[in-house]
Amino acid sequence: MAPKVLFVDDDPNILEAYQRQFWKQYQIDTALAGDRGLEAVAKNGPYAVIVSDLKMPGMNGVQLLSRVREMAPDSVRIMLTGFAEVQTAIDAVNEGNIFRFLTKPCQPDVLARALDAGIEQYRLITANRELLEQSLGAWMRSEREFGLLIKNIPALVFKGYADGSIDPLDNKVEKMTGYPKSLFESRKLKWTDLILEKDIGKTKQKFLRALKGGRPYVREYRINCRDGKVLWIQERSQIVLNHIGRIDYISGVLFDISRRKRGEEALKKSLRRLRNAFRGTVKALSSTLEMRDPYTSGHQMRVTLLACAIGKKMGFSEDQLEAMRIIGSLHDIGKIAVPSEILNKPGKVNEHEFSLIKMHAEAAFNILKDIDFPCQIAEAIAQHHERLDGSGYPKGLSGPEILLQARILAVADVVEAMSSHRPYRPGLGLEAALKEITQKKGILYDPEVVDVCVRLFKEEGFTFDK
Ligand SMILES: [Fe+2]
Repeated sequence: MAPKVLFVDDDPNILEAYQRQFWKQYQIDTALAGDRGLEAVAKNGPYAVIVSDLKMPGMNGVQLLSRVREMAPDSVRIMLTGFAEVQTAIDAVNEGNIFRFLTKPCQPDVLARALDAGIEQYRLITANRELLEQSLGAWMRSEREFGLLIKNIPALVFKGYADGSIDPLDNKVEKMTGYPKSLFESRKLKWTDLILEKDIGKTKQKFLRALKGGRPYVREYRINCRDGKVLWIQERSQIVLNHIGRIDYISGVLFDISRRKRGEEALKKSLRRLRNAFRGTVKALSSTLEMRDPYTSGHQMRVTLLACAIGKKMGFSEDQLEAMRIIGSLHDIGKIAVPSEILNKPGKVNEHEFSLIKMHAEAAFNILKDIDFPCQIAEAIAQHHERLDGSGYPKGLSGPEILLQARILAVADVVEAMSSHRPYRPGLGLEAALKEITQKKGILYDPEVVDVCVRLFKEEGFTFDK
């Protein structure tokens, strides 16, 4: 649709001339006086451009365009006058916020250009307004959605401050803590007042670290509720700094994670029970062998002590050490399959008897292989008589084919066995044991394991009696 233009002039001939000139491009309305012009604006507006004569009987052009400005602020206003006085122009611009000021008689092409420019200006203004209205609408919608989200989220959204006080963004705080929202808003109660004494230290530390790092933070702590109940809270927050780098506010969400914590605690308890039951089983298995083979009684326990000390020095994790403990405690379990007269025989065993003793490594594997251990416990035990150069048994594995736990166990086993007293021979002594592993270091025994073992005894005062 063509843009609408209103011409106001007290000379009907001039108005007619405008009609003739512009009717093809624009929808033209005309008014013979200021008050008629206002009527047209009220009835037929909005106009893209309003062109008014300055000097008219009754309401003059400045007065008219000032009123138009109030009624239709988007309409572009152009003043035409035969009296090109500077003061009039200034008044018109100041009071009427005039877009163009043209002098009469005005060349048709000058007026046409001014009209075109005025219409372009009107389009810009209205387009901007529409954009603003759309953005405002979207913002208001998102405000509404944000409000709904805060209301429905199963957590408490808050704005917090450096002193520990908060402004809860909804009433959930009362349901959560039993204290009314107003108590927090009036600063009579700070959120940090609710945190359990025990948890305050670590909570503060986390906050200070987050302040330094400038990243969002998550902290978990307990709070005291009004009815004496204790809740576990997970707080996810972000510190917002002001222009001088001080804390402006803290934006965060508080979740009640008590149920999850209770579940975790129950799980931990049952895991502890399971682990204790498992340790008891390992101990029972180990004692079964020692009852049958009293000469090696205590051997497995002492080997375990040394193997774990070596593992620890080599950087084993707690889980790896736990596995090492099981491996040490059960490494000779396969001797259950060896006839007891051979195990208990004083003096040297013959070749046939020794081949039966050698079976214990594989027998251990067969006993343990179906147990669902978290790591290769049965395999490591089966390999504890394998030697680096392939001269060991049962498979003659060599070098890296032998598991690290088995290489540690081999060294601990030999050192303990040689240094301890046996019914069929006196103890050879620790020195002889350390000499043996040092001499065969890199041949039979893993060099790093040997070095760590020797260091433990010579420099760190390790003894089997610990
Ligand atoms: Fe063994």
